[in-house]
Amino acid sequence: MQVTILGTGNIGGNLGQALAAKGHQIVYGVRDPNSPKTQAALNALGSAAKVTTVAEAVKASDLIFLALPWQALPEVLQSAGDLTGKTLVDCTNRVGVPLQAGHSSLEEVARLAPGAHVIKTFNTVAAETFHKPQFGQTRASMFYCGDEAGAKASVKQLGEEIGYEMYDLGGLANGYLMDALFQTWITLAMGNKLGRRLALKVLTTQDDL
Ligand SMILES: NC(=O)c1ccc[n+]([C@@H]2O[C@H](COP(=O)([O-])OP(=O)(O)OC[C@H]3O[C@@H](n4cnc5c(N)ncnc54)[C@H](OP(=O)(O)O)[C@@H]3O)[C@@H](O)[C@H]2O)c1
Repeated sequence: MQVTILGTGNIGGNLGQALAAKGHQIVYGVRDPNSPKTQAALNALGSAAKVTTVAEAVKASDLIFLALPWQALPEVLQSAGDLTGKTLVDCTNRVGVPLQAGHSSLEEVARLAPGAHVIKTFNTVAAETFHKPQFGQTRASMFYCGDEAGAKASVKQLGEEIGYEMYDLGGLANGYLMDALFQTWITLAMGNKLGRRLALKVLTTQDDL
């Protein structure tokens, strides 16, 4: 399928490569087609990717990944055109804001993009591990949150294609869980000095304990 990614940095570039490896066509929406990040992303993907403006990239696909700095979202979403009915997959992380129900980063994005189906996922991962979500024999878990069932099904499918084990954490009102998982991830990576090649894993057992 044709997938739009806004941003060509660490997340945009690596996500584009992971999706293109599964046969998807990538349309990058950028502010500067000559930026070093955009040129690197295009060079890595060859004919699997093309680049255009943010507004044209949004028109090109119904599935749009936000791979931008958190601070850029108001400006970029303002310039994106009509987002009604589009699935917006928010991969950003907002740093330095305490957790507060009703004010999660996901809910903030939903307020910036009225009419869009906003899903948050892929924010508890280091971009360079998109290519290989297997850690030894173990598949990494990935989480997603949002209100619209069809949009969530698409995101789940793409995540599974890349290789993640996908878990639905509920609707927009549960968005704070995604922020909490990011804060958990960064605390493990930095505070516990585990480094960036780190993923979260859900374990279950059917055994009687
Ligand atoms: N890096 C990770 O491992 C990781 C993991 C999980 C989540 N995230 C989150 O993912 C988001 C992207 O992170 P990243 O590491 O990919 O950032 P990055 O490498 O700095 O790339 C940012 C991209 O956004 C573009 N951009 C910045 N401001 C823009 C604007 N005003 N209008 C249009 N495009 C703009 C940049 O364009 P130019 O090329 O023109 O500068 C660049 O392509 C962040 O919110 C981050 O918290 C990152």
